[in-house]
This record gives sequence, C-alpha cells and structure tokens, in this order.
Amino acid sequence: MGIFRKLDRMQTMKEIPTRTIVTSEIEKVLFYQIKPETLTFFRDIGISGVPSVADTPHYKFARSILENGRQASSSEEELYRNYLQASWAGKNGDIEDRINKFADHLNLFVSSRSTSAPLLTTFLGDNDLYAVDGNHRLAFSLATNRNLEVKIAPFNKALKIFNPMKEYYGQGNKGKPYQSIYFNKRMVVTGRRVDLIERLNLIPTEAINGMEILDIASNFGMSSIMANINGAKKCTGIERSKELVNFSNKMSILHAREKSVHFLQHDIDHPEKPISGFYDTAFAFSIYSHLKNKKNLFEIIEKCIKKYVIFETHPHTKIEDYPELFDSKKFRSCDFLGNLNYSYDRPEKCRGLYILTK
Ligand SMILES: C[S@@+](CC[C@H](N)C(=O)[O-])C[C@H]1O[C@@H](n2cnc3c(N)ncnc32)[C@H](O)[C@@H]1O
Repeated sequence: MGIFRKLDRMQTMKEIPTRTIVTSEIEKVLFYQIKPETLTFFRDIGISGVPSVADTPHYKFARSILENGRQASSSEEELYRNYLQASWAGKNGDIEDRINKFADHLNLFVSSRSTSAPLLTTFLGDNDLYAVDGNHRLAFSLATNRNLEVKIAPFNKALKIFNPMKEYYGQGNKGKPYQSIYFNKRMVVTGRRVDLIERLNLIPTEAINGMEILDIASNFGMSSIMANINGAKKCTGIERSKELVNFSNKMSILHAREKSVHFLQHDIDHPEKPISGFYDTAFAFSIYSHLKNKKNLFEIIEKCIKKYVIFETHPHTKIEDYPELFDSKKFRSCDFLGNLNYSYDRPEKCRGLYILTK
C-alpha cells in the first residue's frame, strides 16, 4: 500500500469514534471476511449462515490455548490449520508460521491491557455488526471474557479503508464505485449509478421470475443479487475484475444467496474458455463500448441465451449504434422499456433500456 493511502486510511480510522463492546455483543459479531473458499470450511463443520466470532476457529483455538496451554495435537489447532489452508489455498505464506504468530499475538493480548481497536461495520444499523478487520482481537476478547474497544464505521467508510478495488474509486470516478452497493435492497454506498432498482423494475416480470440469468459484466454484483431477491431462480455474473468478482461473491454469501447467485471471473475480450451452460435471460447493461472484441459479446448472447436479452445503451446513443444486436435477425421482437439516468449527479435520462426476445 502506498504511503498516501496508508496516511489517508489512518486519518479516516482516527475520525471514527471508539466504542466499548461487551462480550455478549462480541460473540455475535459476524465474519465479514467470509469467501467461497472458507464458506465450504464452515459448512463442513456444521455452521450455516454467516459465522459469528463464537463460531470461528480463531476463538476456539484461543480458548483452547488459554485453557490447556498450546498442545501441538489439539483438535482446535487442527481446526485453525484447516481454516488457514482453506483461506490461503494457492497463496504464498507459511501456515505453521501463521499459527505460531496467532499464539504469540494471543500472549501479547493477554499480557497487555491495551490493543488497537478492530474495525467493525454495519449494513442495517447497530445490531448487525461485521468484523472487517481484527478477527484475532475479537476472538481473544471473547476467549478472555474481556470487553473490547472497537470502531464501528458505516459500510461506505469501512469499504474505503479496506477497499481492495482501488481501480473503481479515486479522483477519476469521483471516489465512487460504478454501481451503488445495496444490502437487502437498501442503498449502503452511493455509486455513480443510483438507479439499479429502477432499472430492474423496468424489466418485465416474465424475464426475471423463475429465470436463470446471465449478468454480463456484473460489476459489484448488485443486479444479480437484487434480481434473485425479486424472484430470479439463479443468477450468474461474469466480470473481468477479480476484485469485483470476490466482492460480489462475498455479498452473495452475506445475503445468504450463495446457492443461487454466484460470480465468475471472465474477460469477454480474451476468454480463457467459452461461457458454458444456457440461460433464459441476459443482462447486458452498459458494457458494449468497453469491449474490444464486441463479437464475443454477441457470441455469448447467441449461444447461451434462450429467451431474453435486456440491453442498456451507453448515454446519448441510439439503437443504430449497436447494429450487431438490433439489426440481427436473431430476435422475434425488440421493445423499449424506458430511459435511465446518466449518473447520480447527471439526472438526464439518456440511457435506453430494451428487451430483445428470441
Ligand atoms: C460501466 S460498468 C457496467 C456494469 C454493469 N453491467 C451495470 O450496468 O450495472 C462496466 C463493467 O464492465 C466490466 N468489463 C469491462 N471490460 C470487460 C471485459 N472485457 N470482460 C468482462 N467485464 C468487463 C468492468 O469491469 C465493469 O464492471
């Protein structure tokens, strides 16, 4: 991380007030760092939903060290090792070294009264706390029955502090992600597009309800997650950015929709392999001009989509600007659904939304 980002992050952390939470609150704090790899680990040990601090191998291992000392063959250490293996699979880093560091960190925590405050966030208010950073400290607090000072940031701030998707923020984009980020259909981060629900509402129910949807260039995954909430059977997002895919999969898990909404890294311009399977509906929103190999987009639409293509134009363009799609003899009909805003600060309705039916 660059020095300016580090300073900015420290300054933002400083501005977030500190609060003490008691152990009955700590045990319910949810594990924001969940991802598909560790989800399988938690499901295998019988934990459904999003794990809380009390469910984590961090807490179980810390408690076992405190109660019995460090025993190389303890089942809790093995559990923590299995967790690390799931979490760090394929990445560099010595698992045994991480385990030793965990035990050292616990010793330090026990011997010192002060520790830096973990960062928590909330989507819906104070009762749904998620640990963005500081899983060890939260586990140690619970294991030692010690209250803990934490910082609770609204999600937009937490995301900026621990934002792995730097290319989607920054000056050029007015510090905003493209899609607004929603939790249970409530906007929690204002993006450049604030009309995602309005856009979904323009789509006829028959193209969503019970349908399998391919969300082409799914960005932060919000259209897929909300379409699934609205009744889509299954949604698959494809997106070039790995960071966005990881974030979208995490959001799907946090919404308890991981069985019906998932995201894959796929570069439409340079695919490693073709998109497999068949889908009833494609979302192809504001993607055309970003592509160098536009024919690949139409190949996906031609080969994988059975019924509907919901197409959003770029601002101030006409259907004549997309001849491969609108001139094509591959559709029975094409209907205009409505116009959408340029962006959050440019309310002109200049993006057309169309439904093409095969
Ligand atoms: C303008 S945004 C549109 C996002 C989304 N479809 C929407 O309208 O809400 C363009 C998205 O396309 C993705 N993208 C750009 N080139 C891509 C490619 N070659 N393959 C897959 N995704 C791509 C970007 O990462 C970004 O998320």
